[in-house]
Amino acid sequence: MTVQLQANKLNELVNKELDGANRKEALNRAASLPSLTISAWTISDLELIGIGGFSPLEGFMRQADYERVVNELRLSDGTVWSIPITLPVTEEQAGEITVGEEIALTGEDGITYGTIQVEEKYTYDKQLEAENVYGTSEEAHPGVKKVYEKGNVYLGGPITLLNRPDHGQFEDYYLDPAETRQLFKDLGWKTIVGFQTRNPVHRAHEHIQKTALEAVDGLLLNPLVGETKADDIPADVRMESYETILKNYYVEDRVRLVIYPAAMRYAGPREAILHAIVRRNYGCTHFIVGRDHAGVGDYYGTYDAQDLIAEYEDELGINIFKFEHAFYCEVCENMASAKTCPHDKKHHVHLSGTKVRELLRSGERPPKEFSRPEVADVLIKGMKQT
Ligand code: ADX
Repeated sequence: MTVQLQANKLNELVNKELDGANRKEALNRAASLPSLTISAWTISDLELIGIGGFSPLEGFMRQADYERVVNELRLSDGTVWSIPITLPVTEEQAGEITVGEEIALTGEDGITYGTIQVEEKYTYDKQLEAENVYGTSEEAHPGVKKVYEKGNVYLGGPITLLNRPDHGQFEDYYLDPAETRQLFKDLGWKTIVGFQTRNPVHRAHEHIQKTALEAVDGLLLNPLVGETKADDIPADVRMESYETILKNYYVEDRVRLVIYPAAMRYAGPREAILHAIVRRNYGCTHFIVGRDHAGVGDYYGTYDAQDLIAEYEDELGINIFKFEHAFYCEVCENMASAKTCPHDKKHHVHLSGTKVRELLRSGERPPKEFSRPEVADVLIKGMKQT
């Protein structure tokens, strides 16, 4: 394949969402189809496939794609893909489903979100998925725990999206990939850096975003608002922290805040690759991978995600901005990193997540070198409500 053809292929957006008369007809038909109740996590995967966030996926993975992704980080056609996107069912549910039939996918709220044309059902090796995708088979890892909790059979096949989930209070910040691409065109941005986050914004985030922004036209601040682990800060509090910092410290014309409606996997290096692919689909030309991207506990080394993504960067269709661990240096009186600051560690402001939470819970602002005071106040208020 020529380079140009490859680039065009990476640029294509899948659209599996039906609208108008087609949607009505499909919804009517779905009412008489066998129905499967799916979790909030699976609904978010269905949505991302449907709106093209997970392009080139057109459905839940069939066995050949799944196995090659787990073993080699590629779909069966060779395209780089790092995280399995699967539809799990129990053995009992699988027993009632015939290959070849169409099934309605329904939420616990009774809404039919879409359908799947079941082309395959297959069992899989949970331990292998855990070890290869998450780098550990320990159940203490939140992503691995999810793998062990899932049904033992995967259904594979193309989907349709018939209803998008309600994003409630975040609806104003919801755009699909076709809409963000259009937005960037309208804004005249040719180069856009995407930023993934699942944490409240702190000074190091702000530093790497703004450093990247110096080199491109615009910043897509794209916080993940799907399922996260219980001790992460809730999405509504995080969103308020982004609104606050944007209002006070960013140039309005250079940033857009848009939610990323996916579930967090905590798969570190492999999830960094997924995050980059999705942001390419949303129209970004660059993506930030900093320290321990999508990591949890001590499962991954500080720069493991950067090292892995570097191996695939040429094939992703998006450029990766890799950032060293950033901190405030009291001697430099600046945000810095080991690349730019010559001073001893004792001058660097470091706070652990646990320490920050402790301070916030007791109503105290962390130092302004760590967190903007306006953001700290939002978090203190948010912590009181949880
Ligand atoms: S993540 O799980 O979504 O990656 P988080 O919201 O903390 O977690 O990080 C968002 C992005 O900022 C990631 O690319 C991460 O590597 C980067 N990052 C977070 N803190 C720092 C830091 N102190 N220095 C450099 N990069 C950082």
